Amino acid sequence: MKSSQAFWDKLASRYAKRPIKDEKSYQRKLAITQAYFRPDWSVLEFGCGTGSTAIIHAPYVRHILATDISGRMLEIAASKARDAGIDNISFRQGTLDSLVLEAESFDAVLGLNILHLLDDVDGTIERVYGLLRPGGVFVSSTALLGDMKLHWRLLIRAMQVLGFAPFVNCFDKNTLLSMLTATGFSIDQEWQPGKESVFIVAKKEHDTAPSQGGFR
Ligand SMILES: C[S@@+](CC[C@H](N)C(=O)[O-])C[C@H]1O[C@@H](n2cnc3c(N)ncnc32)[C@H](O)[C@@H]1O
Repeated sequence: MKSSQAFWDKLASRYAKRPIKDEKSYQRKLAITQAYFRPDWSVLEFGCGTGSTAIIHAPYVRHILATDISGRMLEIAASKARDAGIDNISFRQGTLDSLVLEAESFDAVLGLNILHLLDDVDGTIERVYGLLRPGGVFVSSTALLGDMKLHWRLLIRAMQVLGFAPFVNCFDKNTLLSMLTATGFSIDQEWQPGKESVFIVAKKEHDTAPSQGGFR
């Protein structure tokens, strides 16, 4: 955890100043997400970064717990929330593994631009599933290294070796969808702003009994 935390701490101030790469897609993702929200919902965001998305969503739900591995990212996020007059976001430093969170206590979990940065994606998806109440949704936006052209993959690997890029996991869209459905999620929405990323809303259904002969 230390090296990743140090990487993101160092990047935080620059990350906060970066403009959104594709504003139109970002707005569409916000709108899709907010169509699910209810005013009494409790939301968890992991890997929240400098909190921009949590701050936009906060007026639409009761509470957001915004978490991140990087203390520096969270400092910036908390200061932005204060400046925006938002008081229903709590910030906590940690990963989904290290944070103590009550099972089935969230109506939605957001994992935006984060799953591809984790080495145990299966484990993370299972953890998210356990944290959602039945009927809750997991909203994710993920870069698909497995669907990228070879030269991009090689460039990213080279940047990692030089310390300019974090660890990035290599999987394609179908692998991610399989991991979600194998855990028990059903795919409610799937949208690709481009070939190399996917936005998914996965639902934890009320009836979670495994299909005949199946097990998890
Ligand atoms: C690419 S940024 C995305 C930030 C934000 N979700 C967004 O869409 O702008 C990835 C964020 O994940 C955080 N992060 C990296 N590894 C993490 C982990 N294992 N657990 C929680 N957060 C992590 C980083 O500190 C960083 O803030």
